Amino acid sequence: MDVDKNASGRPPHPPPPRAKAGTGSHRPLAKESRDAYFRNLYTKAPDFKAIALVDPDFAAVFNSVKGRELDFNDPKSVANRHNYILWLKDLLDTTSYDEPGGKAVGLDIGTGASCIYPLLGCVQRPWSFIATDIDDKSLEWARKNIKLNGLESRIQVIGRKLDDALIPLDDIKLDSLDFTMTNPPFYESEEAMVKSAEEKSRPPFTACTGAKVEMVTPGGEVGFVDRIFQESLVLRERVRWYTAMVGFLSSLTRIVDRLREHKIDNYALTEFQQGNKTRRWAIGWSFRPLRPAQSVARGTKAALSKGMILPAITEYVAFQMPLCENIGGFAETLSSAIAALDLMSWEWDREKLQGVGRAVDKVWARAWRRRKKREAEAGEQGKGEEKATSEQMCTFGFRVAVRVSREHVSVEARWLEGHDETAFESFRGFLKAASEKATEDVKKKVDN
Ligand SMILES: C[S@@+](CC[C@H](N)C(=O)[O-])C[C@H]1O[C@@H](n2cnc3c(N)ncnc32)[C@H](O)[C@@H]1O
Repeated sequence: MDVDKNASGRPPHPPPPRAKAGTGSHRPLAKESRDAYFRNLYTKAPDFKAIALVDPDFAAVFNSVKGRELDFNDPKSVANRHNYILWLKDLLDTTSYDEPGGKAVGLDIGTGASCIYPLLGCVQRPWSFIATDIDDKSLEWARKNIKLNGLESRIQVIGRKLDDALIPLDDIKLDSLDFTMTNPPFYESEEAMVKSAEEKSRPPFTACTGAKVEMVTPGGEVGFVDRIFQESLVLRERVRWYTAMVGFLSSLTRIVDRLREHKIDNYALTEFQQGNKTRRWAIGWSFRPLRPAQSVARGTKAALSKGMILPAITEYVAFQMPLCENIGGFAETLSSAIAALDLMSWEWDREKLQGVGRAVDKVWARAWRRRKKREAEAGEQGKGEEKATSEQMCTFGFRVAVRVSREHVSVEARWLEGHDETAFESFRGFLKAASEKATEDVKKKVDN
């Protein structure tokens, strides 16, 4: 990836491995190893000296730094931005029934001179971007950087005015987006910006061109994210995930409060840390029902200490037993018990010992069975009406997996879809009982 060094330093790292061309079963593997490459990219400190030897542009940045130690608070270092992209990938991958790693269209609000997020996103995934900014100089540099990387067909830069909508779907005649992202301007005033620079509580943003308009916004970062939030209340499901990065934990608390005021239950919080120096947080919210993996939605410990409310859990172990014979038989019996429920669909993967199901309601609960019985007694007409509703709405989607470790067999559940936390909780009871029964059935068969 090339970023013009006048706008931002070159990312200090060699290029990623290209996904091998191929079809069928080789493809996902290539995608996975590519993802693993990016996930591990900054887990060990890069050898900056070695990179400076092979990259003259990077050497110019590196050699000018005191003690040759790159400061990760300095936005010339890409690592912290990279973490936001990694999290977004997981957020999208874990909230889709499709194969992970697919195409997506994102909006980077306030892309800055480096256009760093769209460039990073396009290198790692087959994504495309709309990138906006209000600063003419930044827009000019952003366009140059896109051209330098040959990404004109995938990143569209759009200039905006201060009071324009931040998510301009209607202006650009776009129906929907997969995500929006932003590293918002964070100061409430010029005085706050100067004070913060003096206290070094937040570094000056050298990736921006330095104009006040880039760093100061009414209400600071919370004010900016609140504008996005207000627009999201209107656009709702037209965007899969609205996300933002913030520099203060207190900002995160205030945004979570806003979500809860509006009863938005599907959100995700995370924390980015680069070494022990820079801390940032990110938040995402969605009006859609697909729920992220737990590590993605509840990726911050710091939030808890502030009494912040994390989103509901999306994973649990419903049952565990010591290793036994005939695990395949146990898994098949459990799968049959789930298949016997009145589900919209249940797809069991025999090799992976896991299945995905979708339901219109808490179909395992006594209340559901009673209702079905009443309807059956009411005759054919009632049944017809019930079928029509079943075809319309899934309110609960889940995955059940039988996992085998050295000592245990566990039945794990993952909440994939829906807004009703109590459905996932009550499903735990069903799964535990069904697992116990499957154990007994299999044992009986072995004994016979
Ligand atoms: C903190 S900088 C982030 C730049 C870049 N995304 C990065 O992470 O390096 C915030 C950016 O938001 C832009 N911005 C401020 N108000 C905006 C608005 N109303 N619409 C779009 N961009 C805006 C600023 O010009 C600035 O480039």
